[in-house]
Amino acid sequence: MKKTIALLPGDGIGKEVVDVTVEVLKAVAEHFQHQFNFNYGLIGGDAIDQKGNPLPEETLEICRNSDAIILGAVGGPKWDNNPVELRPERGLLALRKALDLFANLRPIKTFDSLLDSSPLKKEYVNGVDFIIVRELTGGLYFGKPSERIVHEGQEAVVDTLLYKRSEIERILVSAFEMAQNRRKHVTSVDKANVLESSRVWREVAEEVSKRYPDVELEHMLVDNAAMQLIRSPKQFDVIVTENMFGDILSDEASMITGSLGMLSSASLSSDGLHLYEPVHGSAPDIAGKNIANPIATVLSAAMMLRQSFGLEEEAKAIEKAVDNVLNSGLRTADLTEAGKAVSTKRIGEEIISALADDR
Ligand code: NAI
Ligand code: MG
Repeated sequence: MKKTIALLPGDGIGKEVVDVTVEVLKAVAEHFQHQFNFNYGLIGGDAIDQKGNPLPEETLEICRNSDAIILGAVGGPKWDNNPVELRPERGLLALRKALDLFANLRPIKTFDSLLDSSPLKKEYVNGVDFIIVRELTGGLYFGKPSERIVHEGQEAVVDTLLYKRSEIERILVSAFEMAQNRRKHVTSVDKANVLESSRVWREVAEEVSKRYPDVELEHMLVDNAAMQLIRSPKQFDVIVTENMFGDILSDEASMITGSLGMLSSASLSSDGLHLYEPVHGSAPDIAGKNIANPIATVLSAAMMLRQSFGLEEEAKAIEKAVDNVLNSGLRTADLTEAGKAVSTKRIGEEIISALADDR
């Protein structure tokens, strides 16, 4: 199979984890006789420095001319005081909007070998397997106005939580379809006791659920959901929620697996050009040290092989290689005590050699 993959490493550890992922994909291509072509594009802080734009037009072109996109992460202290249009995160938000990447799927599944790495008790996290479906192109992160204003004669500020009904509907449809292939339970998370947007979200969830009689729908307030994720994470199958709620809940949920450096994601568009990225950010505190955990990005690439290219066997091979490496006890610093950790690159090499062993 011949595929073109856009690579947007971005900033900080984004570059390090994408480097490892590319090597893993090259190994997969070799073992399974595929041809993957990689096209690099600038996004985020580097793009601001080199092109004066966090999402240059040529990066969008590279993405549009590819079969799938892999992104590292954007951002860093260097750009923190930039005006809003010259912030790295703008590049990522603009990319999600431009490619209509509306459904962000974040699987939360514990690894048997990492049960001791979670700060939660083993018996609570053992066997956890759910997926967060986060709406990605609407809500608080995109609504206008979003600005400083004068209100009742005082300095004030406004952000806007805006959704078209159709946007709520399509993300719920994604969640129900996903649930049909899983344990048939959808938890729709909102704040319907306070927010009008959440009340409409609930109405739409009820409407959509009628089309999926085999799937059970449950509504949960977001504050309760934050608590339930810690109290009994095994109750969840598919969680579907608004952009910001999903952002916050998924970082929280990462601790079930032991580290943010383990969480992969897929951002799906309506037209079939999807983006795959780790849930974590550019981690400036550890960038450039060759200590970041690359597994979130490597597993995102496995999601790409499965979802975008239909390469199930290849995706499984990566997942199994990751499992084997973890079972052998090798861990990056986020998953083990100081002195016992191995480097980002070493984990990559071990994944590649585990892939080869399995052939
Ligand atoms: P972060 O996710 O970059 O880091 C949070 C903490 O987790 C840090 O202590 C970091 O060292 C650790 N961490 C994250 N990924 C790791 C990995 N793969 N291996 C080991 N440890 C890991 O979030 P933070 O620090 O709040 O933000 C840093 C920058 O990243 C900011 O500029 C932020 O805007 C940006 N960001 C970008 C995202 C993206 O590009 N998708 C998402 C989240 C934040
Ligand atoms: Mg986040």
